[in-house]
Amino acid sequence: MLSEELFNRASKLFPGGVNSPVRFYSPYPTYFSRASGSRIFDVEGKEYLDFCMGFGVNFAGYSNAEIAEEIMYLLDNTIPEGVPTEHEITLGETIQKAVPSVERMRFTNSGTEATMHAIRLARAFTGRKFILKMNAGFHGAHDYVLVNAGSGALNFGSPSSPGIPDEVSKTVLIGDFNNEESIKELFKKYGHEIAAVITEPVLGNLGVIGPEKGFLKFLREITDEYGALLIFDEIITGFRFKFGGYQDLIGVKPDLTTMGKIIGGGMPIGLFGGRSEIMEKISPQGSVYQSGTFSANPFTVASGIATLNFLKKRDYEYTIGLAQWVEDKLKNFSDIGVQVNRVYNMFTIFFNGEKVWNYETALKSDKKKFMDFFNFSKKHGIYFSPGQFEASFVGMAHTPEEVEMAVFKMVYTLEFDMNEDRNKRK
Ligand SMILES: Cc1ncc(COP(=O)(O)O)c(C=O)c1O
Repeated sequence: MLSEELFNRASKLFPGGVNSPVRFYSPYPTYFSRASGSRIFDVEGKEYLDFCMGFGVNFAGYSNAEIAEEIMYLLDNTIPEGVPTEHEITLGETIQKAVPSVERMRFTNSGTEATMHAIRLARAFTGRKFILKMNAGFHGAHDYVLVNAGSGALNFGSPSSPGIPDEVSKTVLIGDFNNEESIKELFKKYGHEIAAVITEPVLGNLGVIGPEKGFLKFLREITDEYGALLIFDEIITGFRFKFGGYQDLIGVKPDLTTMGKIIGGGMPIGLFGGRSEIMEKISPQGSVYQSGTFSANPFTVASGIATLNFLKKRDYEYTIGLAQWVEDKLKNFSDIGVQVNRVYNMFTIFFNGEKVWNYETALKSDKKKFMDFFNFSKKHGIYFSPGQFEASFVGMAHTPEEVEMAVFKMVYTLEFDMNEDRNKRK
């Protein structure tokens, strides 16, 4: 069955033919049927080296035998949903040990839920209403954060969604990542009404943009000064660069942290957690309500335990070295407007004449050129996250040979497929 035919069927069911907007690209997305290790296979049997990895979920690799075994065990020994299990404790203890700021936590079913609950909790704890988020920071698709959001919202040109009451949008202040002045101004004006600053410590949804030296420490200091909470959304960065949080690499301790993606090992998950004193406000210990039929369901939790057990034994430097390779080879193309932003093992290839380090510079990127690059790469058997403002990932299943070949093809695409002068001459 061709992707086009599947898309036609899907379009009669799902708005835009998809179940999440980031999956759509023109004229229709390729449909996939199988994945193994670092590779994904489309419905026509074509194979791709995957740098999207489920938007960062499958860091340990697809159909990882250790993880599959754990889930199969559960399938054979069905554990009921909606009751406490030892599994959730095992996963929780592993995370608590690896991320010391997460003294207490709650599991959710998605990153969206995690940030929603973390924000409600921050408002309840501080008794304040304003949230300060970054321009094009993405924290899921709920009302508290879908204001000036990144990822698909930005790729499709509607960063603030209709349907959110003004009363809610007005409680969301927008600062600029890597711009201390913009944050200071907001604190000067609203400081004692700000419940929390929420940010990805490394932006992943405006494309990859790392924090400038001292920026995250500055956020810690200004939130402390005004009695606001600091929430690090580590849904992408958690357990990605080291066995634990990015926060420990940079030595900045947030009050609350959200996680997702990797900690579920391919099953739907989210988590919010942090200082005990704050988390104690969550029901039934406190009165801030949060619940979920599927929260900490045994399959997700088993998959998470198996994934973290696997990652604990692995060398993160390995993935970082491979991503650096991509950067090193492509940085030769900066003179033709290619900028590679890499933070450890995640990267974005920006089509941009200048260095991308904040919102303003990122927005000058050429979205069309990126999609040309995406499509040519796809033709050559490489699959990137489909959008200029997305991150791509190197995981534990990528091999040096695969990445070397992929880099060779990327260079070919830039030098030949996308070289307009050369194409004109053909
Ligand atoms: C930083 C960040 N926060 C929150 C979310 C939302 O997570 P989910 O898609 O699991 O709801 C995402 C999703 O990509 C994300 O990248």
